[in-house]
Amino acid sequence: MPDLLAELRAARGACLSGKSLGERLGVSRAAVWKRIRALIQNGYLIESRHGKGYRLVREPDVLTREAVAPLLSAGLFRAGRYHHRVEVGSTNEEAVTLARAGVPEGTVVVAESQTRGRGRLGRQWLSPPGVNLSFSFVLRPRMSPNRTFQLTLLAGLALAETVQEAGFAEVTIKWPNDLLLRGRKLAGILTEMGAEMDQVHYVVVGVGLNVHMTTALFPPELQGIAIGLADVYTPSAGAVAVVPMPLRRDLLVGFLHRFETWHERYRQEGFAGVRERWLALAQIQGRRVEVNLLKEKFIGTALDMDPDGFLLVRREDDGSVSRVVAGDVALV
Ligand code: BTN
Repeated sequence: MPDLLAELRAARGACLSGKSLGERLGVSRAAVWKRIRALIQNGYLIESRHGKGYRLVREPDVLTREAVAPLLSAGLFRAGRYHHRVEVGSTNEEAVTLARAGVPEGTVVVAESQTRGRGRLGRQWLSPPGVNLSFSFVLRPRMSPNRTFQLTLLAGLALAETVQEAGFAEVTIKWPNDLLLRGRKLAGILTEMGAEMDQVHYVVVGVGLNVHMTTALFPPELQGIAIGLADVYTPSAGAVAVVPMPLRRDLLVGFLHRFETWHERYRQEGFAGVRERWLALAQIQGRRVEVNLLKEKFIGTALDMDPDGFLLVRREDDGSVSRVVAGDVALV
């Protein structure tokens, strides 16, 4: 059945008259107006121009099941596996609980806010209500536990592509999977796993992307090291934004589609294609880095990513090459 919203979306911001909409939908002009009013009440910005008709200017930036599920594919992240929460402790925690209870691969938990958002290495992750993207998803890969790290790299790659596609071409990846924008952290990924020695029960990948967050909203200690897309978007007075601010919904759906595509390719062809694309997006080869292995720190030059996904760094102190399998890497 044709629907009004689909017609307005398909017009891509052009005006559609009440008469033509009525004809397409098989209803009266009064009925069209009634539906337009309902959309406006639900947060859609629709311009009504006398003699010309209706134009969809902006959709509400909501992540509810109603808004997102119709845009999902029939594949890994299908509509029935999508869960939207207003507030949780941590979407990773929720997804781990669901995974332990046996939900299928492709289950996604998205939250408007987290009260105990978790970062890597025991850090905190800020998720104030309605501002950013915070979500986690469940995978059940048939692989040995020591290869699941590659899924995190795959998620970083899909996220970087999604953000670039939305118009933020400067975004790069920092090993293992932070997204950087103008040298500051835009997004992070936290992967958790339930496994035995040789069998993975589940992998939960948690993604945090700062969308509407701006520098002023970060606590002082993070200003200067964290950034949101809105920081880059914010146009100066009267100026037209260089990059239109994307909807969180479109970023989320874009990510899920991309991850799904890369995941399928990874399953069919292995890690080599992911590695190549990751290296192109990370632009890390030849860069001077500080590697923090928690027990020791050293400076070196990032040489390459090995075929398993670990970073190879030539140390400045003794010239040897270290394979970095954990910890943190900073560009210096
Ligand atoms: C990092 O330290 O870089 C990783 C940050 C990961 C944050 C995301 S937000 C959604 C998911 N739930 C969490 O508690 N953490 C991850």
